[in-house]
This record gives sequence, C-alpha cells and structure tokens, in this order.
Amino acid sequence: QPRYAAHNEPVLGYAPGSAERAALATELRTQGERTVDVPLVIAGRAVMTSTQADVVCPHDHAYVLARTAQAGQAEAQAAIAASQAAAADWASWPLEARSRIFLKAAELLAGPWRQRLNAATMLGQSKTAVQAEIDSACELIDFLRFNVQFAQEIAAQQPLSSVGVRNSTDHRPLEGFVYAVTPFNFTAIGGNLAIAPALMGNTVIWKPSATASLSNYLFMELLHEAGLPPGVINFLPGDAQAISAELLACPHLAGIHFTGSTAVFDQLWLQTAQNLPTYRAYPRLVGETGGKDFVVAHASADVDALCVALLRGAYEYQGQKCSAASRAYIPASLWPLVKAQLLDLIATLRMGDVTDFGNFMGAVIDRRAFTRLSRAIAAARDDSGAQVLTAANPDDRVGYFVPPTLVEVADPTHALMTDELFGPVLAVHVYADATWPELLKTVDTSTAYALTGAVFAQDRAALAEADAGLRNAAGNFYVNDKPTGAVVGQQPFGGARRSGTNDKAGSALNLLRWVSPRTVKETLV
Ligand code: SER
Repeated sequence: QPRYAAHNEPVLGYAPGSAERAALATELRTQGERTVDVPLVIAGRAVMTSTQADVVCPHDHAYVLARTAQAGQAEAQAAIAASQAAAADWASWPLEARSRIFLKAAELLAGPWRQRLNAATMLGQSKTAVQAEIDSACELIDFLRFNVQFAQEIAAQQPLSSVGVRNSTDHRPLEGFVYAVTPFNFTAIGGNLAIAPALMGNTVIWKPSATASLSNYLFMELLHEAGLPPGVINFLPGDAQAISAELLACPHLAGIHFTGSTAVFDQLWLQTAQNLPTYRAYPRLVGETGGKDFVVAHASADVDALCVALLRGAYEYQGQKCSAASRAYIPASLWPLVKAQLLDLIATLRMGDVTDFGNFMGAVIDRRAFTRLSRAIAAARDDSGAQVLTAANPDDRVGYFVPPTLVEVADPTHALMTDELFGPVLAVHVYADATWPELLKTVDTSTAYALTGAVFAQDRAALAEADAGLRNAAGNFYVNDKPTGAVVGQQPFGGARRSGTNDKAGSALNLLRWVSPRTVKETLV
C-alpha cells in the first residue's frame, strides 16, 4: 500500500505588505543586479565551456541575465559517460530511498528556495509573480510530491500468487539514459521531464531551453542539495542539434521525454527511427507538442464567465502556455455583448516589467517570438478575411512586448483559426446560432491538434453534445472554465493527435513509461 499521500502546495497571494512579497522583492533585487554564469552539470560537477550564450531578460533586453555554457558533441559524450557510470548504483536504490530525495527537494522548494526560483522564472521567462508562483513553486513542488505517491501506487501493483507459487512484478528502470528536452514556458515542466524518469530509477540527460537555463539550473542545484547523487541527472544546455545527434546515435538511449514544438518532436522521432536497429531496446518516446486550444461558446453561455475565461486563457503569460486559448467560437446572438466586454477588459490589462507587481502581462520570450508575432499581427491587419479589433501594436524598444490582440475571422478554416502562434493573439469566429451541430464538427476537424479546449453553456443538452462531438478534440477538456491551469494530481495534463503522445504529465501513466517491468514466478520449495 502507498505510504505517502501527496497534497497540493497552497498558492501564496503576494498581497501588498505580505511576507512573501517582501522576500520575493529582495530576491528580485539581488538576482537583477548581476549576470549569472550558468554551467553544464556533468557527473555532479559544474563545467564552463569556452563558448557561452547570453540570455537576456525579455522585458528588458539590454540586461544580460545569464551567460550559459554551451554543450556540443564532446560534452554530450561526457554526459553519456556520466549517466552510464551512475546508472547501476541508482537503479539499485529502493524506491523509498529515491523518494526521500525528491520529497526533500519539495521541502526545500516550498521553503528556502521558493523565491530564488520564482525570481529567476520572473526575470528569465518574464512571468508575473502570480504566474511564477503557480509554476516554479506550486506546480514543481506538486510534481515532486505526486510523482512519489504515483510511483508507490505503481510499485504496489502486484499479480496474484497461488498455492506453492509466489508471483511478483519488479518495476525495473529502463536500461540506458532518458533524454529530457524541455521548454521555456514552464520551469515546472522542465523540472518534471527530468525528475519523473529519475524517480523511477533512470539516469537522465537534460537539455533545457536556452531561455530558461537560469531557473532550470537553480533547480538542478536544489536537487543536488536535496541529495541527488552525481550523474543521475546531467544538465546540458547548448547546441540542440549537436547534442541530439550525439545522444540519439548512442545505443543506450532508453527514452525521450519531450515538451516543445510538433516539428522538433517529429524530427527527434524520425532520427530515432533511423537509428532503431542500433539501440539496445526500443526507446520510449513521450512528448507534449503543439496546440491550437479552443473555447466554444453555446448561445446559453454565461457571458461574464466566458469573457473572464477568454481573457485569462488567451493572455495570461502572454499566451505562451501550451494550453492557452487561441481560437474561440462565439454565437452571433452573444457576439456584440462578448466583444464589448472583452474589449473593455483588454483595455484594463497592464503590460510591462514583471517586477512591477501591478502588471498582468510581461514580454514574450525572445526576439524570434517577437518577430513571428509582430509579422502575424501585421499580416492580419492587411488581411481582408480578418479584422483586428485591438489597436495596440508590438513594441520592442525596451522589451519584447506584444499586446493582447483580438482578431475576428470570417472563415473558421483561416490560418489564424488553425495554426499555432504561441502568443497573446486570440482569433474569434462568429457562427450562426442554429449551426451549432456543424460548428462542433468544424472545431473538431479544422486543426491537427488536440491539447486543450473548453465549452461554455448552461444548457445541459448542449453540454452533452459538445462532450460527445469534441471527445477526441482535446486531451484536457474544460466545461465552463478556461482551458489553462491544470493542477497536478487534479487534472492530469496532455493531448493527443499532433499535440503529443498523451502520457499525462503528473500521473502514474507517465511514470509507467519509465519502467520496464519484470515478472518473477517463484515455485516455493
Ligand atoms: N499545464 C499547463 C496548463 O494547464 C500548460 O502546460 O496550463
């Protein structure tokens, strides 16, 4: 029986005058005054490389926050050697002993490390205090704790025995290392992609996103302070293509744990397929990829709730959550009211430096994202099939600021309604109320993705129709709620179709991908 029952870490409020706000402000001042050298960590040792990449603060791009070491082929080889050297010992640790390290890490993160990680996430990834708190504090703590509970549930899954026979299942780690390739947008996802396979007894080589290297490195340091043995997780920021080429050519590649774009996951999958005969075992490929997450409103929807959900779903963290609402379908009967309310709400949103606690939005992650989004908004302004309803334009003089943007689109198959933009751009299609059944089909079939989605209705029959018609359109489906903000242990997260392998992060399903069970039958003598 599992002995550990996880609970969700309470979200701190950061109200003016609160102790947490004061502690965070102090940490922001300290971190904001310096440029940190972020090394690789191989076999527990910090390694600086001769070339480094500057990481700038997205809302103040003149400020270089970190200088990050860049691994290439040689460092990838060293990381493979370190993970191989650590593997046998780590695999022999009982689950309880491994669990103690991750629970200790949760305790450190809930306490003394909390504001250090929050500040790094705010400065490096341009999250507001609230968005950092739910990510680098609560969600990451929840992953650390819930993974332990789920691992114990897995260990407790044992077969029947019979007279004279004892059967058991040994949930062995995979043979080889797991390659974790992680995104900028959640410090918690970066951390979880590394710790989930590690908890199950695997060694890991972790390639963080360049732009999240500071917060991810601090988490690496925290894990070692919690007692993680050297070489169990090796931290390898750097040249993604060189690192992947090296790791995917290694016979000991046991799995890939990925969150990022569909295009990159495809590439990794294809490269793996090419090397398949050389691997010792079939690698486990687990990925969460792109999305074009929807909000569908029925004529019976509560307009106030719908508008708040659209605002938060589309614009919190600048629309850079994989779960962010980016296409909405609104009935013609509600549109005048929804449009007026949404535009009023958008006008109240403050965007700027996230260390000013009054701001609701920060900057988008980097120059590349800024350029991509600026072009998309400019193209929409020139497009006769689209009407941009908001006036503000992107501005990169100080930081990479892209304002909350609302676009009305006539054709529900227009690229603005089907292609991922990964920014604060919400496309709306207005449909005739009577076409609700056809509309559900359009929502289901017009994109390749199936990550998150939401339906708003008060009419129970309409909810039932949406539930059935959109059954395969989202891995996380929300009824009368925004499509973002899944909580570990409450809403296991992941999508299908071209959004990923749907091995729900923060669940036993995910952890099962990192074990290779051995069945043992013993005849009792
Ligand atoms: N898990 C996040 C959310 O639900 C997205 O990655 O918003």
